[in-house]
Amino acid sequence: MLKNSETSYGSVAKWLHWLTALAFLLAYILYWYAHIFFEVRSEPWRLSQTLHKAVGFSVLLFLFLRLYWRHTNPKPKLPDSMPWWQVKASKATHFLLYFFMFAMPVSGYLGNGGGVNYGIFRIDGFRRTEPGIWIMDKLNLTWEQWEAPFDFFHYHLVGPYILWVLIAVHAGAALYHHFVHKDDVLTNMLPNRRSK
Ligand code: HEM
Repeated sequence: MLKNSETSYGSVAKWLHWLTALAFLLAYILYWYAHIFFEVRSEPWRLSQTLHKAVGFSVLLFLFLRLYWRHTNPKPKLPDSMPWWQVKASKATHFLLYFFMFAMPVSGYLGNGGGVNYGIFRIDGFRRTEPGIWIMDKLNLTWEQWEAPFDFFHYHLVGPYILWVLIAVHAGAALYHHFVHKDDVLTNMLPNRRSK
């Protein structure tokens, strides 16, 4: 089934969910691989960074597709036995995950001088775009002053800490439901379960 039902996610939602998870993982691997194995600003370092940005932009695309799909499909019901605080915690976690799917690529773009060339089209680095030049001029900021809060958010706060904690809570809750409560919360998001 492509679409969600009242009891399970459909294949489009599942694909988008796991592609997003894969994109996050790949973005981390590309970033750390470049920093551990290559000299800063060397050719392979640049290539790895460019791929990191390209994968990061794809998260934004998945986010828009997911939000569209979410609003045009039913949301599978959570188990009736779930206590109210777990329902609230799951809603809050999902909201934050959606927020960071937006905020991570956007803060990466706004805080990073370079763009990405996809071959058929190109995304210029924010620093060189008209809105970028205009906003720094209006706020009377140098590039270094402008990028500092975005870099802090992307590289020092959310990327290395907050997002990992959130993903651990999210994945941990799914595993807890599967192994302790033995309900359908995790299997509803896994590929080989036929939607009821
Ligand atoms: C091993 C890692 C992961 C596991 C095991 C996992 C598992 C799940 C499961 C079982 C659900 C359905 C929960 C429910 O019905 O309430 C779900 C939903 C969701 N997941 Fe994950 N997930 C993982 C990684 C991620 C990552 C990396 C992200 C994004 C950064 C993410 C974002 C979301 C969102 C936003 C939803 C809510 C979907 C909706 O709108 O209904 N997940 N996940």
